[in-house]
Amino acid sequence: MELNDKRVVLGVTGGIAAYKAAELVRLLGKQGADVQVAMTEGATHFVTATTFQALSGKPVYLDQWDARMPNAMAHIDLSRQADLIVIAPASADFLARIANGMADDLLATMVLARNCPLLVAPAMNRQMWENPATQRNVAQLRADGVIVLGPASGEQACGEVGAGRMLEPEQIAEEVIAFCAPKVLAGRKLLLTAGPTFEAIDPVRGITNLSSGRMGYAIARAARHAGAGVTLVSGPVGFASPQGVDRINVRSALEMHAAVMGQAATADIFIGVAAVADYRVANAAEHKLKKDTGGIPPIELVENPDILAEVAALKNGPFCVGFAAESRNLEEYAQTKRRKKNIPLIAGNLIQDGFGGDDNRIVLFDEAGSHPLTLASKSVLARQLIEHIAQMLKGKD
Ligand code: PMT
Repeated sequence: MELNDKRVVLGVTGGIAAYKAAELVRLLGKQGADVQVAMTEGATHFVTATTFQALSGKPVYLDQWDARMPNAMAHIDLSRQADLIVIAPASADFLARIANGMADDLLATMVLARNCPLLVAPAMNRQMWENPATQRNVAQLRADGVIVLGPASGEQACGEVGAGRMLEPEQIAEEVIAFCAPKVLAGRKLLLTAGPTFEAIDPVRGITNLSSGRMGYAIARAARHAGAGVTLVSGPVGFASPQGVDRINVRSALEMHAAVMGQAATADIFIGVAAVADYRVANAAEHKLKKDTGGIPPIELVENPDILAEVAALKNGPFCVGFAAESRNLEEYAQTKRRKKNIPLIAGNLIQDGFGGDDNRIVLFDEAGSHPLTLASKSVLARQLIEHIAQMLKGKD
């Protein structure tokens, strides 16, 4: 779980997006966060405190004079018990109040009294968002170190279309996870490949493999959480991009090669996670091959460029990490690949563990030897790989 033991105060203010905060409580809780909800009076007109109590398993705080706090200082106690405060939705009125240091209800007082980070997810009508007063308040909050999440653009509850929609609960939860992750790659640029390649035989057929893209996408997400700027060069897979990651879609190994070489010179780290076809079809047909025209068509193969080896050979190129999927002799084959491609680190996985599924078993091989990681989900392994890379880079800085 990515928010284990994190104590989050979720402040809900008055706006129709308050109903989405219920889902946010669930998502944060699912990641192991201990969520305490506090609502403004306005929020209670949209959703009841009972909903949040049921989802968080805790009574909700509604006003400053709540008698449950023995010292009658709910604002101090709640903010001292929090690792971070998230306000979602944050109404225009609430942003205005906290931008001006007001303390006229429990939530605003808690924000003023806090000694932990504050994240706000604005939600309001587009005119209210665009209003210079709101823009001034948001600029002030940013200058004060408050993290502003969104807002998104789109259809609004009032029927208008524009900027001001609250980010979806999944997006807010993802930003909270990213915020809480240790920034071991802060300021680094990371480039990686993921998924399979597809080598055309004709316009509708081709040679590909069973890589789902899961491992590469998990690494892209973990690297972004670790503070890196991430560019993901992706073969054809069915996933949405991880939040905050730049993605370049490619199909063939040649397209992947061109995309990577266009970015590699400015990257600090390159990770080749993709299962790149070693060969492509030299005589790919322009039109669909027909079965009844003269026997089995010959398929001629030519070698694809080795993207990882080429990046590793760049002068002043990035720190390179490879992957090796093997069906046997993992250490021998992975270490041979690492030395041949002249890279400092390679992650070896056995084919039956690595392809397609959610879990994987990885062994990291570097000059010092092998570092086995225990069987885990690809997102857990991705975090461990990023930490290992950060440690190796620390030694080089
Ligand atoms: O996508 P998933 O379903 O989650 O599965 C993940 C995975 C099993 C595909 C992944 O973990 C993995 O092991 N990827 C590498 C697959 C492999 O064995 O590649 P390879 O041995 O052909 O190549 C070794 C390294 O060189 C890899 O880093 C590869 O990206 C790179 N390479 C290979 C050929 C080529 N022409 N260019 C390359 O850059």
